[in-house]
Formats: sequence, structure tokens, C-alpha cells
Amino acid sequence: TNPSLLILAGDGIGPEVMTEVRKVIDWFGAKRDLKFDVSEDLVGGCAYDKHGTPLHDDTMAKAQEVDAVLLGAVGGPKYDTLDFSVKPERGLLRLRKEMDLYANLRPAQCFDALADFSSLKKDVVAGLDIMIVRELTSGIYFGEPRGIIEEGNERVGINTQRYTESEIDRVARSAFELAMRRDKKLCSMEKANVMESGVLWREVVTEVAKDYPEVELSHMYADAGAMQLCRWPKQFDVIVTDNLFGDLLSDAAAMLTGSLGMLPSASLGAPMANGRPKALYEPVHGSAPDIAGQGKANPIACVLSFAMALRYSFDQGDEATRLEQAIEKVLADGYRTADLLGEEGKQPVSTSEMGDAIVAALDAS
Ligand code: NAI
Ligand code: MG
Repeated sequence: TNPSLLILAGDGIGPEVMTEVRKVIDWFGAKRDLKFDVSEDLVGGCAYDKHGTPLHDDTMAKAQEVDAVLLGAVGGPKYDTLDFSVKPERGLLRLRKEMDLYANLRPAQCFDALADFSSLKKDVVAGLDIMIVRELTSGIYFGEPRGIIEEGNERVGINTQRYTESEIDRVARSAFELAMRRDKKLCSMEKANVMESGVLWREVVTEVAKDYPEVELSHMYADAGAMQLCRWPKQFDVIVTDNLFGDLLSDAAAMLTGSLGMLPSASLGAPMANGRPKALYEPVHGSAPDIAGQGKANPIACVLSFAMALRYSFDQGDEATRLEQAIEKVLADGYRTADLLGEEGKQPVSTSEMGDAIVAALDAS
């Protein structure tokens, strides 16, 4: 049987970029005999409109069964006034929580043709290809106690950074597995100098490293890591860090290389019975209501998210590379959606023209 893929296009530009991904998926089926059982369903505002909930139970159940979920984006001004419990984002949060997706993979990759577009010097970013693994289900965003309490005559805001050994162990293993498939170099970032959770983090990662003797492990304080990421990012291959530091470091690293319209992500959980990890792939960007419905969205972030699915869920690393090279070629040939043009007065291509160009480049590969 074919591997299964659930597509949740969502709101705003989500369905627009997903239409282009479908062209790519169809190409792999027709030309590389790589066929998927694709099903589609609703998430976010469009699910609320139809079912009164941003994620229907049936959709949740489907997501638990498939080999991978590919999501577009959720949200929009139409839903801003909804009650918190049914906001579009809740659909996405429910998926992440119930699938227990604890390892968030955020690549920072620089396509040569866009090296000039970065705010950093060209030689600092040209050829950059690093991966940040952020712990996604624990840490300070979830730890108890939390809240705002009265203390004496003032209020106190409280959050708790809390990590169990097993939470650190499993995300460390995801990072080591990733490092084994890449350059076998892993840097773990925490603040063991001032945080108990950081001390434990470093101990557990060091322990897990014994199972991966081929991987060269280093440790760095996260503040120094932030500095090194901007100074010379190519010193890194895979970085593993906690939820809070990963949130900041991955956003910073992403911007080393240019536009939100270029950034894919993957969120992985525990291995399923077939050995594949539970997986959700999605572009980093949101539903971009300011450009929705105008054919302006850059579909590359979503196409690259599918490339990650090829590599990490479907064991098709070579085909993922083929797709990434097709995108590199399209960019080298000068195709630019509006977000990639900056101040230059050039004419941008539309969402569908970009998708067609990628398929044409695949044809020529
Ligand atoms: P956003 O990522 O949707 O847009 C930020 C800016 O980047 C906008 O100017 C937009 O036009 C541009 N942009 C984003 N993706 C683009 C693409 N593929 N091509 C070209 N330009 C692109 O973030 P914003 O504006 O803060 O949020 C808009 C809505 O999206 C909100 O409802 C928010 O809650 C939701 N959102 C959803 C996310 C998700 O589904 N994972 C993540 C972030 C925001
Ligand atoms: Mg963030």
C-alpha cells in the first residue's frame, strides 16, 4: 500500500500554497512512481465555520492514523473575536498535543541565489544548512506552578521551567538520529551555569551521546550560542535546545536566510508501529491575511515542508534533494514571488507561476 498523507490546508494563503504542493505531489506520482494516499480535511477557521470547532474529532483521529500530516496555515481576522477555546490556533495546538510532537525541526538553509537577500554578509550565509531541534511539549511554557498571584501588596507573574529526564532523553535521541543522517555534529544549548534544568539537560544529553559514538557532541550556553549563530552559523550542523531557547534561536536562525515565505518545519513524535515517527509538516508562516486571495503568496515554504516529509517520513531523501535542487534552480533562474524582491522594481511571479516553475524544473531534473 502507498504511504498516507493527510493534507490540512487551513485558512488564508494555506489553501493557495497547498494547491502548488499538490502539483508537486502529483508530479512525483506520475514521473517517479512515488504515489501517496492523499486525503484532505479542515483545520482552523474553516473547520470552525463548518463544525463549530477548529479541529473535528474525526480529523484528529485521521491525523493519528496517517504516516504524515501536511498543514498550510490557520487563522485570520474573521476569527479574532472568537472565544479562546475555539480559536483557529487551538486546532493546531490540539494536533501537536495529542500527537505528542516533542521534537520541532527548524532548518535554516540558504539557497545560493538568495544569499544577497540575507541581512548578513554573503560569505557568512552562502551554503548555510543547519537544523535546530527545539523541544516542543514541555519546559517553561507548560511547567507548574504558573499564574499571576498576589504577594504582599503587589502581583507576581510566575512560570516554571521544568524538564524530566525522559523528556530530555527523547528529544536528544531525535537530535542524535538527525545528526547521524547529516554531518554527525550536534551542539546542545542550555544555561547550565545558572539553571538547574540546564544542568540536568547537559547530563542527560551527555548520557544519550554514549549510544551515538559517531556523533561529535558539544555544549554551549544558549546566550553564547545566539552570538555564535549570528557570527559564524556554518560552525553548526544540528543544534538541540529546550522550548524557550529553541523558540528564540530558531526564529533568529531562520532570518539569517531571508523570507518567511521560504521556511519549512517538521514536528516529530515517538516512532509508530511502522517505525516512522508521528509527524506534522508545516511552513513557519501564518495565513497572511494581508495578501490572501491575491496570488502573491510564496509557496516554497510549504513545498519545502513536503520535501522534509519525503526525507523524514517516507525515506525518500534522494527525492527530497531532487525537489530542493529544483527550487534552487528556479531561484537561480530569477523566479521571485513578491516577498523575495525587496526594493527592486522587478515584476514578481504569482503563486501558481512559482509552482509551475518548480514542476518544470523537476521535469528537467
Ligand atoms: P504571517 O506569517 O501570516 O504573516 C507575516 C507577514 O509575512 C505578512 O506580511 C505576510 O504577508 C508575510 N508572509 C507570510 N507568509 C508568506 C508567504 N508564504 N509568502 C509571502 N509573504 C508571506 O503572520 P501574522 O500576520 O502575524 O499572522 C496572520 C494570521 O496567521 C493570524 O491569524 C495568526 O494567528 C496566524 N498564524 C498562524 C500560524 C500557523 O498556522 N502556524 C503561524 C503564525 C500566525
Ligand atoms: Mg516563535
